[in-house]
Amino acid sequence: MPIDPEFPGNHQVIGKHDHADGQHFHFVWGPGNPSDAAANPDVKAAYAARNEELTPIGVHGTFVAVDWDSCIADGACIQACPVNVFQWYRTENDVPAVEMSNISSSGVGSAGKDDRLDYTDKSDPIREKDCIWCMACVTVCPTKAIKVDQSNVQFHEQAISTFNR
Ligand code: F3S
Ligand code: F3S
Ligand code: ZN
Repeated sequence: MPIDPEFPGNHQVIGKHDHADGQHFHFVWGPGNPSDAAANPDVKAAYAARNEELTPIGVHGTFVAVDWDSCIADGACIQACPVNVFQWYRTENDVPAVEMSNISSSGVGSAGKDDRLDYTDKSDPIREKDCIWCMACVTVCPTKAIKVDQSNVQFHEQAISTFNR
């Protein structure tokens, strides 16, 4: 299932994923819904191998939004982005995805198409504000897990004033 295009209305901000540089950060929207990841054999096997529960996670990012429940760790988005917005989250923070909703990362994760740690990994828009709206990531994702929408900047800005950890 593609990312819910109305996710800012149907979900709420459940966290803020900071970047240690103090410049980049993105909000996390939840609670999420079971989607392509829960049905994908590679993803299911990878969760089983880790003994981790495959539960709904939600959406990382607001104007570059990646639905982690739809992401099956293909990696095409990461390779396609000309300004290096994304990284594989597990290659920096190897923790269950639910723990990524409120965390700080340094942006040192890998960004090669096949650099995923395994199929539990997700594409994380760690440098969201660097997006130049080229839409390559949206086009190449096999599950349509990504929505890039300049008009969603307003939801990001609202969250800056209302989000309280
Ligand atoms: Fe990169 Fe996607 Fe923006 S490819 S420039 S994050 S539209
Ligand atoms: Fe995931 Fe789609 Fe990127 S499956 S890694 S969001 S290309
Ligand atoms: Zn994130």
